[in-house]
Amino acid sequence: MFNDDARKKNVKTPTIVQEVWHDGEFIRWDDARVHVMSHVLHYGSSVFEGIRCYKTSRGPAVFRLREHMQRFLNSAKIYRMSHPWKLDELCDAVTGLVARSGLQQCYLRPIMFRSLDEEHPAFGVNPFPNPMACYIGAWDWGKYLGDEAIEQGVDVCVSSWNRLTPNSMPAMAKAGANYMNSQLIKMEALTNGYAEGIALDDRGYVSEGSGENIFLVHGGKVITPPLSSAILPGITRDSVIEICRALEIPIVESGLQRASLYVADELFFTGTAAEVTPIRSVDRIPVGEARRGPITERIQKLFFEITSGEREAPGDWLTFVGEQKAAAAGSDRNGHNAAQSAEARRGPTQTPEPSAAREAIHVTLTE
Ligand SMILES: Cc1ncc(COP(=O)(O)O)c(C=O)c1O
Repeated sequence: MFNDDARKKNVKTPTIVQEVWHDGEFIRWDDARVHVMSHVLHYGSSVFEGIRCYKTSRGPAVFRLREHMQRFLNSAKIYRMSHPWKLDELCDAVTGLVARSGLQQCYLRPIMFRSLDEEHPAFGVNPFPNPMACYIGAWDWGKYLGDEAIEQGVDVCVSSWNRLTPNSMPAMAKAGANYMNSQLIKMEALTNGYAEGIALDDRGYVSEGSGENIFLVHGGKVITPPLSSAILPGITRDSVIEICRALEIPIVESGLQRASLYVADELFFTGTAAEVTPIRSVDRIPVGEARRGPITERIQKLFFEITSGEREAPGDWLTFVGEQKAAAAGSDRNGHNAAQSAEARRGPTQTPEPSAAREAIHVTLTE
């Protein structure tokens, strides 16, 4: 009934961190399970985050950790989720998990959801009787849209599916249920031979990809749709706006007509998973010269220099895992603290050499 070819894309099994943070403890990956009658499985009641930790000369560093965790808490607040977890505790959980993993780089997935109280089960849509659960898992994820995409760019389409409307499903919240819309966009694109789909908002203005924000370059100016175009307030998007300011490239937030995609000089996606990925065609119409454009390349270069710790960021963007107190705190069920477990796995830790290549960029933060 369905063409299966597209299914085989994006299925390379990543290296999975064998522990999951759950409620202040590190549990085994295999023990991180839920009941099939949990509220979240039936009614989509989850919020989550996607965070990258990069390899740097000062050890693994989590990119914009506090901003991701603040968005996580905001998403939970929008959905009236009452829970005990605080910003600092969640940030410490992430650095603790990375330290224990022994990995130099990984992708982190915090998720909070409405589960099931097995002694007093509740099955209705009303979510209030269902207890909250919170977990953080991690795995080593490569380039989301493919290794070549970062240089060559991707071929995309405009989706026949619209993004969410602000007064039905708030795109501002990173909620699991929103990704049913993203899945429709993604499946349609893959089935038709594209790497990704760009959705329009309910008024017909450009919104975003299924899991990325979008930027357009025209006449030397960078333009990105505003929050009112039903976008997720992307943290990479915010970083790219700051990077443009640092590079003194004019940047504006503005509504974009679909047709502007076809006549853009350059287009690119941003996202934690996609990072900064050029778009080389839309609906088979070449973008500019059908390859990564010069402004995209400058922004991408600085982005990767910042995430790799080679250049100083315009803000406090990197949390160096080995330099956090929490990375050494927290214990597992055997009473081993994070530092002990990580050291046992890795052998004694090396003190990284401060990189001579770390060179500050002079940032202009004026509009
Ligand atoms: C729908 C959607 N838009 C945009 C983004 C980019 O957001 P961020 O840069 O915070 O990862 C994502 C990824 O999380 C997403 O899923």
